[in-house]
Amino acid sequence: MNRIIITLDGPAGAGKSTVAKQLAKLLNISYLDTGAMYRALTLKALRLEINMEDEDALKSVALKTKIEFVDDGQGGLRITLDGEDVSEAIRSLDVTNNTFYTARAGKVREILVEWQKAFGRARSLVGEGRDLGTVVFPEATYKFYLDADVEERCQRRIRELRAQGKVFDEEALKKDLRERDQKDLSRAVGPLKKTTDMIVIDSTGLSVEQTAYKILEHIN
Ligand code: DC
Repeated sequence: MNRIIITLDGPAGAGKSTVAKQLAKLLNISYLDTGAMYRALTLKALRLEINMEDEDALKSVALKTKIEFVDDGQGGLRITLDGEDVSEAIRSLDVTNNTFYTARAGKVREILVEWQKAFGRARSLVGEGRDLGTVVFPEATYKFYLDADVEERCQRRIRELRAQGKVFDEEALKKDLRERDQKDLSRAVGPLKKTTDMIVIDSTGLSVEQTAYKILEHIN
C-alpha cells in the first residue's frame, strides 16, 4: 500500500479525536493528535511558570522538550512529556484555557510542525488539528474539515466532562468554547481554515460511527 495521509481539521468539539482514532483503527494506520502536543507543551510551560506572553521563552522550552506517543497495548495511545505520562493532565481546564499561548507562537509552531512532518514522512496516518491540511500536510491524500453546530459542540463537551465526574459551570464552558473558536480562526500563524480542497463533513446530529462512515465513503 502506498503511504496515505488523511487530515482532519476543525473547531474544538467537532468530534475530530474520536473519529480520527476510529478511522486510524479501521484503516490500520497511525493516529496523530497534534492538539495533544500543543497541550503538553503548555503544561510544561505552566509548570515552569514561564511567562506565556514570551515567545522566545516558549520556544526555548519547546527545544528542550520531548513529546512522544506510546502504544498502551490496548489499542490506544498515551502521550508522554519528557518521559512522563501526561495523557490526563493535558486535558485539565487550566491547560485547555492556556494552550492558545503556545498555539499562537509562530516559533513554537515551527518546531512542532517540523516534528509532525517528520512523523508523517515515515508512515501512513490520520492526523487531526487545525492546520494539518494547510501547513503540516498540504500534500495529504484526503483532507477533511469536520464541523458541527456550536451548540452541539458545547453539549458534547458537557457530556464528556460529566462522564468524567468533573464539576464545571455550563455558561463559562460555552463562553470558553466560543473564545477558543475565535482564537483558532484569527491567529496569524497556522489558523483554522476551511480551504477549497477540503471535504467538509458536518457532524451535527451524527454519531461517531456515522461520521466515520461518511468519511470512509469518500476514501473508498
Ligand atoms: O484539539 P485540541 O482541543 O486538543 O487542541 C488544543 C489547542 O491546540 C487548541 O486551542 C488549538 C491548538 N491547536 C493548534 O493550534 N494547532 C493544531 N494543529 C492543533 C491544535
